Amino acid sequence: MNFENILVSKNNNLAQITINRPKKLNALNKATIEELHQAFDALESDVAVKAIIITGSGEKAFVAGADISEFAHFSVDEGSNLARKGQEILFNFVANLATPVIAAINGFALGGGLELAMACHFRIASDNAKMGLPEVSLGVIPGYGGTQRLPQLVGKGKAMEMIMTAGMISAEDAKNSGLVNHVTTQEELLPLAEKIAGKILRNSSVAISAAIVAVNANFEDGVNGFDTEIKAFGDCFGTEDFKEGTTAFLEKRKPNFSGN
Ligand code: COA
Repeated sequence: MNFENILVSKNNNLAQITINRPKKLNALNKATIEELHQAFDALESDVAVKAIIITGSGEKAFVAGADISEFAHFSVDEGSNLARKGQEILFNFVANLATPVIAAINGFALGGGLELAMACHFRIASDNAKMGLPEVSLGVIPGYGGTQRLPQLVGKGKAMEMIMTAGMISAEDAKNSGLVNHVTTQEELLPLAEKIAGKILRNSSVAISAAIVAVNANFEDGVNGFDTEIKAFGDCFGTEDFKEGTTAFLEKRKPNFSGN
C-alpha cells in the first residue's frame, strides 16, 4: 500500500499505521482521512492482520487536529458534510472495525486527533503527550464524535470542562481520567503497544471481534447491549475457535486459534 500522508507496515499478524505529515503536526486533511479509510479497510480485509496500532510520525504530535486551513472558509452545509463524511469513513469506521485498533499517542492529540484516538478501541500515551478538544477556541465544536466519545470515556463533567475550556490535559491526567490506559516514555511507547497487541494476538480473533460488537452496543441508541451480547455469545459456540479454545483447556495445552 503506497500513500502520500500515511505509512503502513505489517509484521506477522500486527499492522502499524503512522500518520506522516510531521511538518503539519500530522493534521488530518481530507486526503489523509481518505487514505486512513483505505488503509483501515484494506487491513480489515487482510485475514493475516489481527491487530492494528496507529501512531503519529515525529516526536511532537500524534495528530494536532483536523487541518484548519481546509475548512476555515466553509459554509454551514459544507461544515455538516465534513463532519458527516469524516464520522462515516474514519471515526465510526474505526470504532466498528472487527480488528482491534490501539492508539499509541506520541505527542499532541488535539481536536480530530483526540477524536481519532478515542475512536480506537483503546489508547496508550507517551509521557509528553497532551490531549484536548480545543474546537471552541476556534468558534466551532468537536465534529468527529468528540462530544459523544469524550463523556463516555472520562464522564460528563470532566468532558464538559475539557470542551468548554479548550484546554489540554497531560498524559498522567488522561490516565487518571480513563482516557488512556497506560503512560510510558516516548521510547517505550511502540514497544508497549506491541507487547499489549502480542497478548491480544494470542486469543481468538473471532471472539475478539464479537466482543467489540457487544461492547460497542452499549453506546448505540436504541440497541439493547445485553441482547447483542447474548446473540454474540451464542454465535461463538458455532466457531472453530470455540472448539479449539475449550478443547485445548481441557487437554491442558495452549490453543492454536485459526480465527474461524
Ligand atoms: N491544522 C492545520 N495546520 C496545523 C494544525 C492544524 N490543526 N496544527 C498545527 N498545524 C501546523 C501549523 O500551522 C504549522 O504550520 P507552518 O509551519 O506551515 O506554519 C505547523 O503545523 C507546526 O505547528 P506550530 O503551531 O508552529 O507548532 P507549535 O509547537 O508552536 O504549537 C500546537 C503546537 C499543537 C499547540 C499548535 O500547532 C496548535 O494549536 N494547533 C492547532 C490545534 C487545534 O486547534 N486543533 C483542533 C483543530 S479543529
